[in-house]
Amino acid sequence: MDKLVLEGGERLSGIVKVSGAKNATLPILAAAILCENHPLVLHNVPHLRDVTTMLTLLSELGARTMLCDKHSLQVDARDLKQTVAPYALVKQMRASILVLGPLLTRFGEAKVSLPGGCLIGSRPVDQHLHALERMGAEFELNDGYIQGKVNGRLQGAVIDFDRVTVTGTENVMMAAVLAQGKTEIHHAACEPEIIDLANCLNAMGAKIQGAGMHTIVINGVKSLGPSDPYTIMGDRIEAGTYLAAAVINQGDITLKGIDPTVLHAVTAVLESMGAIITLNADGLRCQMEGRPKAVDITTDVYPGFPTDMQAQLMVLNAVAEGSAKIKETIFENRFMHAQELNRMGANISIDGNTAMIKGVEKLVGAPVMATDLRASACLVLAGLVAEGTTTIDRVYHLCRGYERIEEKLQSLGAKIGRLQDTFETVAS
Ligand code: EPU
Repeated sequence: MDKLVLEGGERLSGIVKVSGAKNATLPILAAAILCENHPLVLHNVPHLRDVTTMLTLLSELGARTMLCDKHSLQVDARDLKQTVAPYALVKQMRASILVLGPLLTRFGEAKVSLPGGCLIGSRPVDQHLHALERMGAEFELNDGYIQGKVNGRLQGAVIDFDRVTVTGTENVMMAAVLAQGKTEIHHAACEPEIIDLANCLNAMGAKIQGAGMHTIVINGVKSLGPSDPYTIMGDRIEAGTYLAAAVINQGDITLKGIDPTVLHAVTAVLESMGAIITLNADGLRCQMEGRPKAVDITTDVYPGFPTDMQAQLMVLNAVAEGSAKIKETIFENRFMHAQELNRMGANISIDGNTAMIKGVEKLVGAPVMATDLRASACLVLAGLVAEGTTTIDRVYHLCRGYERIEEKLQSLGAKIGRLQDTFETVAS
C-alpha cells in the first residue's frame, strides 16, 4: 500500500492551480443520466478516484464516457438502460446515492445499494427517501438495496427537509427537473456545489430557481436539451487546504482557479490566525509570518465553516499560540485525526463533539495512519511542519479528493514523496 513521506520545515511559495471541485463533479456526472437526447460535455473535471468511481457506475448503467482532453469529458447517457447501482461501487463511494433521483425520474425505477455508515458518521439517507416518497416514489429495502419505483412520472411536491443535506438536496433537485409540475425544496442546503449543479442543469433547459438559498423552486420539464460544454467550479476545500499549508509553514502562495467568495468562512478564520489574504491579478494570495494564533471554530452548513476543513484547521490550532476549541456539528465522529496528531506531539483532547487543543511549539515527525479524506489532508499539513520525517499510511484516501497533491506541493517547495512497494521517491 502506498505511503507518503514528508520532511517537514520547508517554507512554501509559488502559484498553484486549484482543480475542479469533487463535490460539484459527482452530482453533475449523475445529472448526465437526465440527458436522454444528447451527450453532456464537461470541462475542469478533476482526476480523482471518486470521479473514476462515478464514471464506472455510469458505464455500468450503460452510459458511454469519453475523455476529450486531460480535464474534459463527454458523458452520453442516451442508451443508458440499467437502473441498478451495485454494492461493489456504492461501498467505494457513498456519493453513488446521487444516481437515485435521476434514475427514478427518467426510468420510474432504480435499485441502489444502501450506503452503510462510514468512519466519520452513520450518514443515513432517510431524508433523500422521504423527499422522493413525497414526489410519488415507493421504496422497499431488499438484500441491502433500496428498490424504488414510480407509478408514471414523479410529481412535483413541497419538500421540507428535517435536516439540511447536501446530496439530499441535489438528489431531489435532479429528480424534480423531469417531474410533473412544481417542486419546492425548503431547508435546502446552500453549498456552492448545489449552485454549480443547478447552473449546469439550467444551461440544458431545466427550470431551477433559488439554488444557493434555503428555498429552491423547480418547475419540471419534459426533457433537457443540448447545451454548451459546462465548466465545473474550482474546489473550495482543496483551495482551503493549500491556504492552510501556506499558513502552517509561514509561506506565500497564490491560488488560481478559485472564486474567493466561496471560501469566505475559511479565509476569515485564517486571517484571524494572522494570515494576510489578498486578491491580485494572479489569484488569491496568502502570506503568513510567525506562528498562527489559536482560533475557536464551530463547523456549520454553508455559509458557515465547512466540516470538510475542520481537520486541516485542527492541525493549525495544534501548532498555534494559545488554546482553541473546535466543535463539530455536522458529523458525529470526525475527530479520528486528533489521536494521530497527538502521536506527533500535539496536545488535543476530545469531549463529545468538541476538541480542546493546546497549541505546542512544534510537532515531531512520526509514522501515522490516514483514516478518511480530510484526515489525510490534515496529516499532510502536519508532516509539512513537523520536525523530521512523517510517513502517512493509507494515502489512497487522499486520491479520492486531491488531484496530484504531491506534485502540487512539490512545486511549492515541499519535500514530499510517495513510497511505493520497495522504492522511495522523496523529492528534494
Ligand atoms: N443526514 C441524515 N439523513 C439524511 C442525510 C444526511 O441524517 O438523509 C445527516 C448526515 O448523517 C450528516 C448531516 O446530515 O450528519 C449532513 O449530511 P449531508 O447529507 O449534508 O452530507 P453528504 O451530502 O453525505 C456532502 C459532501 C461531504 C460533506 C457534507 C457536508 C458530497 C459528495 N459529499 O456529504 O463531503 O462533508 O456534504 O458538507 O458532496 C468530503 O468531501 O470529504 C465530504 C465528506
